[in-house]
Amino acid sequence: MPRDKLMRKIKNVDGLVCFPYDVIDSEVIKNAKNLKVISTYSVGYDHIDVRAAKQRGIKIGYTPEVLTNATADLTIAIMLDLTRKVTHGDRLIRAGKWNVIFGAYDYVGADLEGKTLGIFGMGRIGKAVAKRASSFGMNVIYCSRKRLPLSLEKKMRVKHVSFDGLVRDSDVLSIHVPHVKETDKLVNLGIFRKMKRTAFLINTARGKIVNEKDLVTALKKNLIAGAGLDVFEKEPIGKRHPLVRMENVVLAPHIGSSTDETRRKMAEITVQNLVFGLEKKKMVYSV
Ligand code: DGY
Repeated sequence: MPRDKLMRKIKNVDGLVCFPYDVIDSEVIKNAKNLKVISTYSVGYDHIDVRAAKQRGIKIGYTPEVLTNATADLTIAIMLDLTRKVTHGDRLIRAGKWNVIFGAYDYVGADLEGKTLGIFGMGRIGKAVAKRASSFGMNVIYCSRKRLPLSLEKKMRVKHVSFDGLVRDSDVLSIHVPHVKETDKLVNLGIFRKMKRTAFLINTARGKIVNEKDLVTALKKNLIAGAGLDVFEKEPIGKRHPLVRMENVVLAPHIGSSTDETRRKMAEITVQNLVFGLEKKKMVYSV
């Protein structure tokens, strides 16, 4: 819904269902005199001014857990694509540029076994990615606000490191933190300079965590080997975006949670959160 329409329509409503691209800031909330519940069809809620909502006693529902596996699967899909050049090869074939049947050094990628996956943010999705990566024989290191209990680290075969250590030692660095003030454009040129030149960056969290301009510079200067992105500073990115012209980049149109099963569960929870919230019952998941 365009913002001006939202501003008009929201004046009298009691409940709101929104999506990650709907900006529910303090201005919208101020305009919504009757609003009692915001139910977002997403795990992320950085599009909602939580403080402004809470000050007004407005409840916020969201949809974590049900999209964990789908998002972790997509992260692995992007990692495999980056390291084995699947979509690169696809583009090449479609462009009629596959000329040599089996060139020994053509389209050469990298093995995952023995490589280090760095997980930034060991929440639900980070853990699901770690579990999948271990089955590929990867070493998993992580940096998170909250360290896991030692017994769980041991069971999951993951090692806690500092942010610097994560950036320095990862062959693949995957972002799984929320977008908040502290993580805004946190991954910038300074970070790319510290990464291995052979490393890949994956972002299936939120685009604004990465300084996109710096990422383009880093890719152009080969400071890192490539990037896999499901999220962007501004979505949708147009076909003129510099990332679109880069061969060492895998792009996805924000589809982390986009499986039939997951989206149905998200829809159910979104509606339940809305109804339960309006009925003053406990929401399935609330912020
Ligand atoms: C979320 O739920 O926050 C996802 O980014 C939407 O797919």
